[in-house]
Amino acid sequence: MTYSALKEKQSLHNLPSFLLFCLVFFFQYTKEQAGEATKVAIDVGYRHIDCAFLYGNEVEVGRAINAKIADGTVKREDIFYTGKLWSNNQAPERVRPALESSLKDLGLDYMDLFLIHTPVEFKPGDNLFPKDENGKVIFHNTDIRDTWKAMEACKDAGLVRSIGVSNFNSKQLELILNAPGLKYKPVCNQVECHIFLNQSKLLEFCKSKDIVLVGYSVLGSSRVEGWIDKNLPYVLENPVVIEVAKKVGRSAAQVAMRYLLQRGIVVLAKSFTAERIKQNFQLFDFQLSDEDMQRVDGVNKNMRYLSIDRYVGALSACGEICRIIG
Ligand SMILES: NC(=O)c1ccc[n+]([C@@H]2O[C@H](COP(=O)([O-])OP(=O)(O)OC[C@H]3O[C@@H](n4cnc5c(N)ncnc54)[C@H](OP(=O)(O)O)[C@@H]3O)[C@@H](O)[C@H]2O)c1
Ligand SMILES: *[C@@H]1O[C@H](CO)[C@@H](O)[C@H](O)[C@H]1NC(C)=O
Repeated sequence: MTYSALKEKQSLHNLPSFLLFCLVFFFQYTKEQAGEATKVAIDVGYRHIDCAFLYGNEVEVGRAINAKIADGTVKREDIFYTGKLWSNNQAPERVRPALESSLKDLGLDYMDLFLIHTPVEFKPGDNLFPKDENGKVIFHNTDIRDTWKAMEACKDAGLVRSIGVSNFNSKQLELILNAPGLKYKPVCNQVECHIFLNQSKLLEFCKSKDIVLVGYSVLGSSRVEGWIDKNLPYVLENPVVIEVAKKVGRSAAQVAMRYLLQRGIVVLAKSFTAERIKQNFQLFDFQLSDEDMQRVDGVNKNMRYLSIDRYVGALSACGEICRIIG
């Protein structure tokens, strides 16, 4: 299934996207919980599972998918699995081995979608967070177009159906789109997107290039200590969202997601709680009026939960923890 087919299916057959933020590095979650959540989600009807090598639980998530295939709930072709290339593997010769290693962990023959996780590259090697003697992350600068060529080769080899990017701005996207000899365009750009960061410019750009914008942290992020400034306003506590939610008889989370869906954005929502996983799937039996859409439009602040500094800082901290846990 191509990504646009998924999108079409999503709007035609009420299939919302589901992002699994499957974590080793947040102590409150275990890898097993990620597997359990995957099974619950598939039972509820979710078909898009967004994961990444970085999340450290492709083994458990793959096992859950295969269990749901084995028990006849779904077929492989019903599932849309997204994986991501981490920043230590952007050197062209490292791309395919990285993908193959994820596939092996997952117990799958192919991914539906494979993304460059961020435009930022770290020093190539097996260390996810290579650091210098002062504890600073070591960056590297492979031409992202060469990484992209290696992504294209993975598609040609049948290891992945579609390829895309994450956390790219329009300039970085353009670099790839204008690359000499470009074979495949990125089908999507997965970025932070919510009521406080409406991404209207990037969305317009992506639409003009037929690139799907996929939003993460749509509920206001997981608000994990050290990653997120807790003083930032929280999506689910926004008075406008709460008022609209009361009016339409839905939860704030459902309104926050429905707002993005109606603007043509694919939404990813992470939950490891069965009740919320179910609730977050109930997005296709109600609509926001133009007036409500405009009211929610008004709360945009171009505010990011994850800044790149915070991201790199938090991720390097995670690196330590990952290594401790193994
Ligand atoms: N591509 C990238 O570079 C990148 C970067 C950062 C993050 N992400 C992804 O973005 C994903 C989502 O971001 P996120 O985890 O920051 O945030 P999110 O999906 O906005 O929020 C997740 C949080 O909301 C809670 N929640 C879920 N449904 C709810 C509901 N109906 N009512 C109230 N609370 C609800 C979840 O709690 P429970 O689980 O306890 O239910 C969890 O704490 C992450 O999983 C991560 O993979 C991607
Ligand atoms: C997004 O934010 C901008 C700037 O705050 C605002 O003008 C616009 O109405 C918002 N909504 C959309 C859909 O662009």
